[in-house]
Amino acid sequence: MKVHGTKINPMSSPSQQWNSELYQTSHSFVWQYGRDLLALLDAKPGERVLDVGCGTGQLTAEVAQSGTDVVGIDSSPEMIQSARANFRHLRFELFDVASLPYEAEFDAVISNAALHWVRDQRGAISSIARALKPGGRLVFEMGGYGNLRRVLESSYRALTSLGVPDPEKLVTWYFPSIGEYASLLESRAFLVNFAVLFERPTNLEGGEDGFAKWIDMFGKFATSAVSPEQHETLVRRWEEFARPAMFRHGVWTIDYKRLRMLVTKK
Ligand SMILES: C[S@@+](CC[C@H](N)C(=O)[O-])C[C@H]1O[C@@H](n2cnc3c(N)ncnc32)[C@H](O)[C@@H]1O
Repeated sequence: MKVHGTKINPMSSPSQQWNSELYQTSHSFVWQYGRDLLALLDAKPGERVLDVGCGTGQLTAEVAQSGTDVVGIDSSPEMIQSARANFRHLRFELFDVASLPYEAEFDAVISNAALHWVRDQRGAISSIARALKPGGRLVFEMGGYGNLRRVLESSYRALTSLGVPDPEKLVTWYFPSIGEYASLLESRAFLVNFAVLFERPTNLEGGEDGFAKWIDMFGKFATSAVSPEQHETLVRRWEEFARPAMFRHGVWTIDYKRLRMLVTKK
């Protein structure tokens, strides 16, 4: 898939393995920022809501607080196991978003920080559309065009310095522009009601170690391309190249850029 200067090769790296414990202890900012989506979702008591890529379930639980009947789905067994352990009263299922078993069952679908991980975008959008009732809404936030530009550029420099060829090809994230994703959605039964692409610089927890922890959680595309002996050198060089733009007064700041949309099924 070719995306405005971001070359995506869906087969170039193994699927992400999720460390649900590290996710919950050091990366809670992901679902904390996701709370902004709840206002856009505006869920009503009694509505059936599907949370796509629910991770460890914190946002799913907040959706449930509106009195909705909510189901969380995720393709990672580790994440689903943690979500079930965290929220025993809620329903979580192990499904890939591109092959959901639901037919016109949900009033709304919410998805935070998950869709840019999905390899089969067309399959995912069709599958979500099938799961929604006619007129149902999809509210989501994902990485958008230009997301992580500095993080990625510094990773490419570090990987190149260790002899890894074509490091851009290791990246499987999909960060679309508004126009590109709107076209995809409109070609798959949706109408766009609201769309915004915005910068959201995000401070990491952990002081000096914050970026190394972020790499541990989200940087597998790069760390899995080097030998275990080179791992530490890669992380140190990645930090070194990123530091001038991303480390100030003892805090690492990641250059996130988010695409947030509300769309309805025709
Ligand atoms: C960064 S986490 C976000 C989790 C949660 N939405 C939150 O706000 O904390 C991304 C999640 O997307 C899930 N994911 C990635 N690809 C997926 C797919 N094809 N189908 C379902 N879930 C997927 C991952 O397993 C992971 O749990």
